[in-house]
Amino acid sequence: MKKITYNRFGGTEVLQMTDAPMPAGDIIVKVKAVSINPLDWKLWQGDMKLMSGRKFPKSVGIDFSGIVEQGNVKYHKGDEVFGMTSIFKGGALAEYVAVKAEDITYKPEAITFEEAAGFPVAGSAALQIFNKLLKIEPGMEVLINGAGGGIGPLVIQLAKKAGAIVTAVAGPAAIDMAARMGSDAVVNYKQENVLTIGKTFDAVIDLSGKMAYKAAKTILKKHGIYVNTLPSPLEMIRSLFSGGRYKLLVLKPAASYLEMLAASGLQLFISKRYDFRDYRKAYDEVMKGSIPGKAVFVIN
Ligand SMILES: NC(=O)c1ccc[n+]([C@@H]2O[C@H](COP(=O)([O-])OP(=O)(O)OC[C@H]3O[C@@H](n4cnc5c(N)ncnc54)[C@H](OP(=O)(O)O)[C@@H]3O)[C@@H](O)[C@H]2O)c1
Repeated sequence: MKKITYNRFGGTEVLQMTDAPMPAGDIIVKVKAVSINPLDWKLWQGDMKLMSGRKFPKSVGIDFSGIVEQGNVKYHKGDEVFGMTSIFKGGALAEYVAVKAEDITYKPEAITFEEAAGFPVAGSAALQIFNKLLKIEPGMEVLINGAGGGIGPLVIQLAKKAGAIVTAVAGPAAIDMAARMGSDAVVNYKQENVLTIGKTFDAVIDLSGKMAYKAAKTILKKHGIYVNTLPSPLEMIRSLFSGGRYKLLVLKPAASYLEMLAASGLQLFISKRYDFRDYRKAYDEVMKGSIPGKAVFVIN
């Protein structure tokens, strides 16, 4: 079977399509779709080698959906499922992936394989922000900076469900999507600086990696909370000395999040589909930015 692997850290040139033996494991899924996450390239570029290790070959792809080929007592051949591999092990960008029961859940009939593949990382991150980091009360003003990507549309919907008044900051290509997902106001970051529009917020969620705590503090209300999605040892120290106003997202995948996503009714926005064999072109394009929502690989 075909899968995408790499033997050293680097840019998209290190990625290769290889012939691999069928994976062995508890459950084998025939992959139908895989979504692209910034985590994919952070891993093969070596930005996370402290956690991923330096043992090669390594495999690409975390989020997937597909059809069970070899089941166990819970999942049977033919079941439609979606889920995620271990973040540091990867291996979803392949014709087949081996997983454990806790890595997957049943795909709702109402969503496509492509939509299902877009949910696990982005959806688990969005749910974790609201379940663990922030308590949103109706009427709170929430700023979502970097709202136009994979996680943003889900965060907009969850913030609106909780009764927040949402300001989304997005690039020009994602303005319409951010409005359609329910934002009360949308700021185009290429034209306006949200730090100088004269608004303050109860929560600032930075999904862009571009708004530091120091800048966010200038637009936070007195007890407002800042959420950063790019954890590092330095940021962890900063958050410890923030009096609880600076929260870091450190994604802890859990089957319960997959089940919550399956039942959530959240809308996933996909704007780009790529053939599995165009993996290098796909990553080159997505890494440049300006693709609203999620991009997914389709595997036939
Ligand atoms: N901590 C964790 O455990 C964890 C887990 C999952 C994800 N993450 C991280 O969370 C972040 C968001 O994930 P994602 O999948 O939503 O990423 P994404 O799809 O790349 O979205 C990021 C968005 O930020 C926008 N952006 C870029 N520069 C901006 C600026 N100056 N101001 C406002 N917006 C700007 C981009 O718009 P344009 O494309 O138009 O520039 C893009 O839509 C990523 O860094 C990801 O690695 C962390």
